[in-house]
Amino acid sequence: MKIDKIKEAIEANIFVHTIMADDYNSVEPHFRPESIDRVENIIQKINKDKIIDKVLDLGCGTGFMINIVKKRANEIVGVDVTQAMMDKVDTSGKASIKLINADTGTVSLPQNYFDLVTAYTFLDHLYDMKPTFINVFNALIKDGVFYADLSPNYYFWEGVKKLDPNFNLYEPIIQREVDAVWKKDQEIEFQFGIDKETFKKAEHQKHTKGGLMEEELRDLLLNTGFSKVEFIYHWFIGQAQLINDESINKELRYSQADFIHQNLIKTLPLSRNLFKYIGFIATK
Ligand SMILES: C[S@@+](CC[C@H](N)C(=O)[O-])C[C@H]1O[C@@H](n2cnc3c(N)ncnc32)[C@H](O)[C@@H]1O
Repeated sequence: MKIDKIKEAIEANIFVHTIMADDYNSVEPHFRPESIDRVENIIQKINKDKIIDKVLDLGCGTGFMINIVKKRANEIVGVDVTQAMMDKVDTSGKASIKLINADTGTVSLPQNYFDLVTAYTFLDHLYDMKPTFINVFNALIKDGVFYADLSPNYYFWEGVKKLDPNFNLYEPIIQREVDAVWKKDQEIEFQFGIDKETFKKAEHQKHTKGGLMEEELRDLLLNTGFSKVEFIYHWFIGQAQLINDESINKELRYSQADFIHQNLIKTLPLSRNLFKYIGFIATK
């Protein structure tokens, strides 16, 4: 039954994230300054047209998004099922920060209340996104914004999965991604002692469904009642190797990465299988 599957995914997430909580901020690449800058720019863009006073952050974890929005918002609510992750949230500063230990699909929230709802590297952890989307829609004010990001892009993983895991002659940039599909669970088992099945259940939308698909998300969001959805694709294949290549002057490698990114964005949707992540900005 679906309800059992939802429960199973939640339990797997609590298990995995309780183990990862202590090291989470230091091992996860989205905590690097350039990644924080990217998200800050997106929030700034949203804030140009809308007030960001009350924010709800779904799957808030250790507070990645809370740290970014607390410079602008007065009231922030974070929701997460893993207490060990929420225990790391820095609640200092002028904003009132309330943390709720609950599932985002069933948590009780004030209606027509939040200006902005965020979900960063989170949606792929849900067994079913629909109950969460309904909850978000009801909790947002009219014209409020739902910003979700850093979810695995279905089209990227679909392409990688078609490659031969035993070929071994791919360029290292590609081999890395092939290994991520076929060996990531082994790596996690080795590094954190988390068994493969639990790891897969914790990231159901990635490991079982193959990632988040633009068309499916659009349908789901519009059917929930959102009036407009804009998609974000980012982190092209090879971007990490380029920006970390110390043989090139830092300014040059960053401007080259930006040039490639902008050109790939111009060639969407043809280029969408080259981006690892998908995000969206949906308006109520
Ligand atoms: C990959 S972490 C992301 C944390 C944070 N958003 C960030 O950007 O660092 C995913 C978080 O989602 C939480 N989570 C998973 N399923 C959940 C659910 N159904 N309801 C609420 N939180 C959930 C996990 O406990 C974990 O803290």
